[in-house]
Amino acid sequence: MESSERKKRIFSGIQPSGELTLGSYMGALKSWVNMQEEYDCVYCIVDMHAITVRQNPAELRRRAMAQLAQYIACGLDPEKSILFIQSHVPQHAELAWVLGCYTQFGELSRMTQFKQKSQQHADNITAGLFTYPVLMAADILLYQADAVPVGADQKQHVELCRDIAGRFNGIYGDVFTLPEPFIPRMGARIMSLGNPENKMSKSDPEGCVFLMDSPEDIRRKFKRAVTDSETSVRFDPAGKPGVSNLLTIYCAASGRTVEAAEAEFAGQGYGVFKPAVADAVIALTEPIRAEASRLMKDRTYLEGIYRSGAERAEQLARRTLRKVYKKVGFIER
Ligand code: TYM
Repeated sequence: MESSERKKRIFSGIQPSGELTLGSYMGALKSWVNMQEEYDCVYCIVDMHAITVRQNPAELRRRAMAQLAQYIACGLDPEKSILFIQSHVPQHAELAWVLGCYTQFGELSRMTQFKQKSQQHADNITAGLFTYPVLMAADILLYQADAVPVGADQKQHVELCRDIAGRFNGIYGDVFTLPEPFIPRMGARIMSLGNPENKMSKSDPEGCVFLMDSPEDIRRKFKRAVTDSETSVRFDPAGKPGVSNLLTIYCAASGRTVEAAEAEFAGQGYGVFKPAVADAVIALTEPIRAEASRLMKDRTYLEGIYRSGAERAEQLARRTLRKVYKKVGFIER
């Protein structure tokens, strides 16, 4: 009875390795906000993941706080959802160690993100970068999450998490809930404005829109966005990757369907379309930017949120870790 009445649990996180991007908003945060009504949600600022590549400590601290302010400004409600910082809950690292002993070297070697990042950071390929998906599995499994709202690029990591959980359950019985990735139909993979063959990412600031960008910056970035030599606004990701990406952004920002957007811009060129996309994005980001800036000035409030978030998260995390320690044969202190 109790289990069928339990709301489904959601877990997800974003690295404070840069400012929040429009890609992360459309791929993940937007779903996080929508899921709060129906589910029991736990949302994390994954600072421990961020140090898999070298960070400036003062900047990392500032960005983690700013990210919390932006989470709330986007509509995450600390009364409804648990908002916390990963390094405040030690069970993440503890479970990651155990799970690492149930993960194959070969599985981690096959992770696309590891292959990409180890190319980008060829001079500093750390063990942390390699075992990163194990920490991510620990994040998810500690909270017995049923679903994990992420962009398409994280699907492989959630699937690995499922494999690890299934393997562990196969040995010890039902310890972990098997999580499903939840990937939005629209916005799961926002591409760079400057190079629509690549994912929009914070490492390419001109091709990337940040939630805290000013309207002028946003207008400039969309004005320069790469399109094609035709003039028609048509959704065709293979043939017209730039325009299709702009259409996706327009639809995700304004709530319109692709058909409605195509009809709206029929017979009009990119000179009309691009500024309209910029305006739709500004209409979305300006209220977020204003509210996040206001919250950033109230440090005491933000500290209160992350402290109580960590307490609530730790209660749940402790329960899972205790079970795991018992199963693998550790003596309870
Ligand atoms: P991260 O921090 O790179 O990205 C955060 C979220 O944003 C999504 N995303 C995008 N979606 C669409 N288009 C884009 N251009 C785009 N760029 C980013 C990502 O898919 C992600 O959902 N490993 C994770 C963080 C993490 C996590 C977790 C996620 C750590 N532990 C547990 C879920 C559950 C990451 O690096 O995401």
